[in-house]
Amino acid sequence: MIETVGVVGAGQMGSGIAQVAAQVGYQVILVDTHQEALKRAMAAIGNSCDRLISKNNMSQDEKVALISRIRTTTVLEDLRDVDFVIEAVVENLEVKTSLFRRLDTIVKPGTILASNTSSLSITQLAAVTQRPQLVAGMHFMNPVPIMKLVEGIRGLQTSDETFQTVQQVCEKMGKVFVASRKDRPGFIVNRILMPMINEAFFVLEEGIGSPEDIDQAMKLGTNQPMGPLALADFIGLDTCLAIMEVLYDGLGDPKYRPAPLLRKYVEAGWLGRKAKKGVYRYEG
Ligand code: CAA
Repeated sequence: MIETVGVVGAGQMGSGIAQVAAQVGYQVILVDTHQEALKRAMAAIGNSCDRLISKNNMSQDEKVALISRIRTTTVLEDLRDVDFVIEAVVENLEVKTSLFRRLDTIVKPGTILASNTSSLSITQLAAVTQRPQLVAGMHFMNPVPIMKLVEGIRGLQTSDETFQTVQQVCEKMGKVFVASRKDRPGFIVNRILMPMINEAFFVLEEGIGSPEDIDQAMKLGTNQPMGPLALADFIGLDTCLAIMEVLYDGLGDPKYRPAPLLRKYVEAGWLGRKAKKGVYRYEG
């Protein structure tokens, strides 16, 4: 039975995952190497709860209870007794594999190690541990508290029991679970979403439309809540580029080549909302 959940990485995904896990009653330990990131995460969780309260989707008492169920720490070893771990660190294979190696030596036998990776190989992450059957993908969408989907990914070695538990944990968190039956770069969502975003950068670079017109066309023409360029800023242009590179390298098809303009923006440090500048400028 899963009672305690460790979340590693306190960025926008990790903080959202910690929030929804605590909301449904799990005791959560949120780990990050930076104390500052933990502080920002708790502030973001507080703000998100306030938005839910203002829409009558949460009570003040529920917020207090939720926050009391999250413990923050900079010490990975504090995860030794958790029942389930969700990793949500930077989208970089070396960082993730070295973290999985460490987690494997820290957490108790039987603890599932799930990764929130949006495109990297679950099979490869599993292979660096002594518990590959207990490793699976659990890909949340941003903003985690309100997006309904979690994409579950089976690595080659993931056991049926592990995958079922991952599904149960997702459903307990109030999410709809869709299984990516194969561990292929980008799984389902980013295999389809990222080429669309990437293409929007080609369209921009070719001068076919202004950023506003490209976004307006896709919003009103295909009923998307945000246009692809605004969505890229929301996700982070560095993350979009990293995912395109995984698709390009992993699938070996030139149709996935990252748009040069997307790469240039990343080189300029125009990473989107988090940098207050991406395709658009942001205040505050
Ligand atoms: N916490 C709590 N509530 C939140 C929230 C948060 N972090 N963010 C938004 N909300 C709530 C708002 O309070 C509002 O509630 P009501 O509907 O009850 O009024 C609702 O969500 C809509 O928010 P807003 O009115 O502020 O703004 P909006 O209507 O423009 O919606 C959005 C914002 C939900 C982000 C919407 O634009 C949207 O769905 N965008 C697309 C998001 C998307 O595609 N995400 C997936 C990205 S891909 C990914 O994550 C995977 C990957 O690997 C890259």
